[in-house]
Amino acid sequence: MTHDQLELSNDELLSTTRAVRKRLDLDRPVSMEVIKECLELAVQAPTGSNSQNWQFVFVTDPDKKKKIGELYRQAFSLYREMPMAIHKLHSDSEDKDLKNSQERSASSADYLGENMGKVPAMMIPCITGRTDNEEGNNVLAQTALYGSIIPAAWSFMLAARARGIGTAWTTLHLMHEKEIADLLGIPYDEFMQIALIPIAYTKGTNFKAAYRPEIENVMHINHW
Ligand SMILES: Cc1cc2nc3c(=O)[nH]c(=O)nc-3n(C[C@H](O)[C@H](O)[C@H](O)COP(=O)(O)O)c2cc1C
Repeated sequence: MTHDQLELSNDELLSTTRAVRKRLDLDRPVSMEVIKECLELAVQAPTGSNSQNWQFVFVTDPDKKKKIGELYRQAFSLYREMPMAIHKLHSDSEDKDLKNSQERSASSADYLGENMGKVPAMMIPCITGRTDNEEGNNVLAQTALYGSIIPAAWSFMLAARARGIGTAWTTLHLMHEKEIADLLGIPYDEFMQIALIPIAYTKGTNFKAAYRPEIENVMHINHW
């Protein structure tokens, strides 16, 4: 069975797949069937040398979610004080729209910091190999690894959004990567975790495109 999808054009899907945090419906279950449907689409993504060296761990067990949520909360409170924290970045920008959007994101991130453990499901995409050992310690190896998992995870997030399910890319749990690997039985020496993605139906389905500065600021044609 294919699950119902929202009426979104391709461009709407691409421009409204936001980091959803406050609007995650923590009370509505997400079935493993709809998760599988999104994963079927996700594994159509590209991988270096067509390696398909990925694994996707889904967590729905309440005790495990609670433990991961607590580790995420601890990591988030450390991150909050760091200079690159979302709360500090762009805080003195003259671009008011950018400043406002950053403040909203920071408040949303605080909310997820407190509630990660309560989401109906979590996804941890993993890739074979590690970037923190000798083999992975060069740019080519690193980009090959990240580039072989991030497109799939993002496709999962797009497929979820198309079905009224919200997600958010998060990484702070990686401060406790080993502990979480042990909790979930992930072979830490062989597989690197890439993200911790909460999965929940969204409260309402209407999301707007985010504010972004003009693309002329980031676009180069023929020369930097
Ligand atoms: C590499 C990466 C790491 C991120 N880590 C976190 C995180 O740990 N916690 C969090 O709440 N959001 C995290 N985010 C989400 C960003 O804060 C979010 O994408 C950004 O504020 C823009 O919001 P938008 O995706 O809705 O446009 C991360 C995003 C990326 C791409």
